[in-house]
Amino acid sequence: MTTSQTPDKTAKPAREVRNEADRVLIFDTTLRDGEQSPGASMTLEEKLQVAEMLDEMGVDIIEAGFPIASNGDFQAVSEISKIVKNAVVAGLARAGFKDIDRAGEAVQGAERPRVHTFISTSPVHMKFKLQMEPSEVLDAVSKSVERARSYTNDVEWSPEDATRTETDFLCRCVEAAIKAGATTINIPDTVGYFVPDEYKALLEMLRERVPGADEVVFSTHCHNDLGMAVANSLAGVAAGARQVECTINGIGERAGNASLEEVVMAINTRNDVLPYWTGIDTTLITRASKLVAGVTAFPVQYNKAIVGKNAFAHESGIHQDGMLKHTQTYEIMTPEDVGLKESSLVMGKHSGRHAFREKLKELGYELGENAFQDAFQRFKDLADKKKHVFDEDIEALVDDEMATADHIKVVALTVIAGTGGPQKATITLEVDGKHETREASGDGPVDATFNAIKAIVPHDARLPLYQVHAVTEGTDAQAEVSVRLEEAGKTVTGRGADTDTMVASARAYVSALNKLIVKREKTAPEKMMAS
Ligand code: KIV
Ligand code: ZN
Repeated sequence: MTTSQTPDKTAKPAREVRNEADRVLIFDTTLRDGEQSPGASMTLEEKLQVAEMLDEMGVDIIEAGFPIASNGDFQAVSEISKIVKNAVVAGLARAGFKDIDRAGEAVQGAERPRVHTFISTSPVHMKFKLQMEPSEVLDAVSKSVERARSYTNDVEWSPEDATRTETDFLCRCVEAAIKAGATTINIPDTVGYFVPDEYKALLEMLRERVPGADEVVFSTHCHNDLGMAVANSLAGVAAGARQVECTINGIGERAGNASLEEVVMAINTRNDVLPYWTGIDTTLITRASKLVAGVTAFPVQYNKAIVGKNAFAHESGIHQDGMLKHTQTYEIMTPEDVGLKESSLVMGKHSGRHAFREKLKELGYELGENAFQDAFQRFKDLADKKKHVFDEDIEALVDDEMATADHIKVVALTVIAGTGGPQKATITLEVDGKHETREASGDGPVDATFNAIKAIVPHDARLPLYQVHAVTEGTDAQAEVSVRLEEAGKTVTGRGADTDTMVASARAYVSALNKLIVKREKTAPEKMMAS
């Protein structure tokens, strides 16, 4: 083809009138598949925070959990169902009636409830995992979907391990699910095995061959074992799928799920070749990413597309020179598109309550009066210690403040560290209103601090994670510490921030202990029911 004009590949296409047929529904499963990844468990309060964030950013369907898994999961799904304003709320269930009933009950309070039921259809899963004959699985498909329809008209059905399922059998299962009343058919690449061409062909084949396929929404659910989850999801969309299942930061089982931010920004940025649209407010992506990374203590890899620390950083001289001349030389989307703002200097120690309240609003926080006063005091203390207080400092401080429950508080800490040893810590905690002080030694100052805390609050929890990162640059940066504790199969993550790494560590450990206490209280009725 010859053309007299070179097409401007950097120009954004004018947003045409949006056609409903091109809309891709975003189904977020951060709270279910994401939370299933080892160590990513969240407390009820954290799940509610994430659900509110997803709803605000325009996610169409929020998979809130797997209600049969535990009383805690059931409670989370039902509480989320009550607070979500716009999105459909889905509860996951296996094919058994007990599972489906539990999911159906959990989503009853939602404005728009969905039950998502699944069963494995691949030979290896049917034989070894389910120990069921294909005919029994086929029968269970119809029965499970019918049962789910008795709770809601919005029923999604998934053949687990669909991509390793024998084609004719998959067609028969999908047909049975549609006949029984499923309104969404999800095709999981459960083990992340497929490549885009194969996944596209599978979706095309199903849409062509299965009677009734044109009456349902087809959905993608791709895992990232070979790093192709997003590419496979987009290939599924090209084949006619109009729902994509994904997670914030791509968290999920093993290598994770397709990442929401990558799917959405690919569609937005390359709309010339991906002529679809979503309802996501992309300017909330960075906030959502930080929230999920924070509550799960799963750090986002620096070079992760869209939300990694370096995703918009230009280091080499040639690139910086190009950027200064024209940002489109090296930028295919802007940091503002995903809500990443220039790190801005916050008011100094002379700033008043009004300015601080405005800053919190700008950063997306709404605090009650008491929490606001506490946060303001901590901001003042920080401004006294630290020359420059940045947005990130305020975020770390408020996240820390919001995460702190009331049972135990850090009052004072003194640490002796250095090469001489032994390292020692003396800590004063307020435990249910009473002050207690202990001294302990340890293998380093953190160990000594944690031993002193443990002397006041004895427990048997394991500590599978201790993680520190600097909130901003410079030696006066705040340290943000995450501590994960695990007790009797329950996992909690606490966070703490301070310019003193030891104080931040003590706060994180105490925050995790507070969460553990709440978890113990909540699980007590469960234990009683079981006995
Ligand atoms: O990966 C998978 O197959 C799933 C199903 C439950 C949808 O998560
Ligand atoms: Zn999955």
